[in-house]
Amino acid sequence: MSQIKIFDTTLRDGEQSPGVNLNQLEKLEIAKQLERFGVDRMEAGFPSSSKGDFNAVKMIADTIKDTSVTGLARTVKSDVDTAWEALKGAAEPCLHLFLATSPIHMTYKLKKTPEEVIDTAVEMVSYARQKFPQVEWSAEDASRSDWSFLAQIIERVIDAGATVINLPDTVGYTTPLEYGKLFKFIKETVPNIDRVNLSCHCHNDLGMAVANSLAAVENGATQVEGTINGIGERAGNAAIEELAVALKIRSDHYPYYTRLQLNEIKRTSDLVAKLTGMYVQSNKAVVGKNAFAHESGIHQDGVLKHASTYEIITPEMVGVGSNTLFLGKHSGRHAFKDKVKELGYELPDEKLKEAFNLFKELTDHKKEVTDNDLFTLLTEIQTDTAAVDRYQMEMFQVQYGSANIPTATVLLKTPDGESVQAARTGQGSVEALYKTLDSLIEENLQLTDYQLKSVGRGKDALAESHVQLVVNNETMNGRGSAQDVIEASANAFLDAVNRYIVHQKTSIKKEVVK
Ligand code: KIV
Ligand code: ZN
Repeated sequence: MSQIKIFDTTLRDGEQSPGVNLNQLEKLEIAKQLERFGVDRMEAGFPSSSKGDFNAVKMIADTIKDTSVTGLARTVKSDVDTAWEALKGAAEPCLHLFLATSPIHMTYKLKKTPEEVIDTAVEMVSYARQKFPQVEWSAEDASRSDWSFLAQIIERVIDAGATVINLPDTVGYTTPLEYGKLFKFIKETVPNIDRVNLSCHCHNDLGMAVANSLAAVENGATQVEGTINGIGERAGNAAIEELAVALKIRSDHYPYYTRLQLNEIKRTSDLVAKLTGMYVQSNKAVVGKNAFAHESGIHQDGVLKHASTYEIITPEMVGVGSNTLFLGKHSGRHAFKDKVKELGYELPDEKLKEAFNLFKELTDHKKEVTDNDLFTLLTEIQTDTAAVDRYQMEMFQVQYGSANIPTATVLLKTPDGESVQAARTGQGSVEALYKTLDSLIEENLQLTDYQLKSVGRGKDALAESHVQLVVNNETMNGRGSAQDVIEASANAFLDAVNRYIVHQKTSIKKEVVK
């Protein structure tokens, strides 16, 4: 059995999904969970793309100690220098440099000859190695590149000091057989290839990202790149949880192991879904709500007689538990603190106190507080950026009845500290509320998505709302939870607006990279 390294890019390629805008604390929370999950390397962001990205990468690099942290950079000195400033505090800083190698990208995007591309890649890799102990070089659009040109540039880049070579299928175009052959060719043709880790990075445009990655592994890749839940630009990236479970369940076919703790899969998936607002579909492999549900009578009968008749993965293996009953009205501070720890949260005393108060409030309305409820509550507290001036709800009231026109009244505190008030009507209560908020908020707002779901089951379940707003032409996601659906909806709306405000304060420029 040989080891396959796992490179997670949820916080970079995944964060490029439309509308995903994680704040620094949310990114840190995901980073800590990725460390717990056992990924070998995490790509924390693209430091020179914005001040916000720089700060997040720095915070992650300074905090995470059991996983190598990397940042993306273009092949320009200023990107390398900025990335070093963000990453130098990491336990094992790594730089991820990329430059396109396909004729189509070199001609139309870079406007460089193949020789110029080789020179730039070699120059920047050797420059980066003066600072970074680890440098990964990616041949962007490798799957549509000329193979002999790839072999030539890879050999030169390795001589210049690259420690990892990545061959991305940037546009999700390749097939398993073809991608596998590319890896085999590179392994057989590039004389110094055994000095580096060889990595695959697949996009899912044709739904083959995981299959393509596994084909690369079978043909010499020693590192696989992907994201949690397969999130990412367009159709997303290879889903790490699917790769990990495929390698484990079919170890008869794939003689490889990873460092991943498979029982952390569900929690990692839930956290990423909650914070990004990109929920997985019910039938998604490994982490979908129905992944372990047996509906037909014949299947149920079979599973009851012997689970393996229809179940190739056990829920326990991937950390799908019973959503255990937590504490109730009479639970004390001590028991609460223990449970918070058990759920993997580290909260400073002040936040712990806040969490306990919220928990107590919740038990006034909800008899049984489950792990899921607490997960929602603690995630909200942990990732709240209260330090920033923002819109805050002071009071709202919604009148609704089958015989009257839904009307909302809102008292709102603006980022300047002023209290403003308005009332509006709508076709329904949420519309009335959103119209009222819109009338009080200076920014130009357009609601493009609205989702409401319950956390767990039961009449007293917590409500969680997700919205997507276009705020002055920028797409922003927001989320909010509360016991009441209208309050959760209001929180989500304001969260999206407040994220825009934070984003404006921290953003210099945001370059989008595939
Ligand atoms: O898909 C891609 O080519 C990328 C590179 C930046 C590695 O994400
Ligand atoms: Zn990519």
